[in-house]
Amino acid sequence: MKNHLSQHKLPKHVAIIMDGNGRWATLKGLPRWEGHREGVKRVKEITEASAELGIEVLSLYAFSTENWSRPPEEIELLMMLLEEYLERELPTMMEHNIRLSAMGRLFRLPESTQKKLQETIEKTSKNTGMILNLALSYGGQAEITDACAKIAKEVKEGRLRIDEIDENTVKAHLYRPELPEVDLLIRTSGEIRLSNFMLWQNAYAEFYFTPVLWPDFRKGDLIKAILEYQSRERRFGGV
Ligand code: IPE
Ligand code: IPE
Ligand code: MG
Repeated sequence: MKNHLSQHKLPKHVAIIMDGNGRWATLKGLPRWEGHREGVKRVKEITEASAELGIEVLSLYAFSTENWSRPPEEIELLMMLLEEYLERELPTMMEHNIRLSAMGRLFRLPESTQKKLQETIEKTSKNTGMILNLALSYGGQAEITDACAKIAKEVKEGRLRIDEIDENTVKAHLYRPELPEVDLLIRTSGEIRLSNFMLWQNAYAEFYFTPVLWPDFRKGDLIKAILEYQSRERRFGGV
């Protein structure tokens, strides 16, 4: 299937809203956590597939600021799955030359999760292949708000003048300013909304919505999304 993709029109930055774990489990008569567990397997599969296809940055929405309102047991399980995933997948990341990155209000994560995360980021920091960017405790509005606060502080301390503030200033104060803007945004499970994901970075992204639930989303589905992306004409406001 890879051969159908045009290599020179690959999206550099693919972002995925991995949604539908709970519904996948419910449809099978299973508890929600079984859906999350199956979802983690797709994280591995889609990450490897993306690296093999030559994607430069893969951002995955794993836990939103709004997800903190879920029952404590579900949050606990998600954090446990994340820690297990980081531990188990380090060899895969090394093998595929993947550099791990994370964005969000990470200080809200349990300490053990923060520690695992920082360790894995550190251990993969010399890798030069695809960047796997996990959005954790992440909200697009929170990110822009945090950027505003950082900018205000610099103005207050006399390190920045108000008339110097432009789009580049805001971009430079986002969580991961080094990452390019999103080219292709994928959301699974049939929901047609952004749910507060990378509001700034998605300004000119191509959107791809699929009814496939995240635990059913396979490499073939990713390739289908990229093929659709390659058939689109991007104008960026020009003619
Ligand atoms: C996505 O699946 C995973 C997270 C938000 C952590 P959901 O848990 O939202 O699954 P649905 O939407 O209830 O099916
Ligand atoms: C978005 O999914 C967040 C993640 C995939 C981590 P949600 O399931 O939380 O979003 P809503 O509530 O359907 O908008
Ligand atoms: Mg959901």
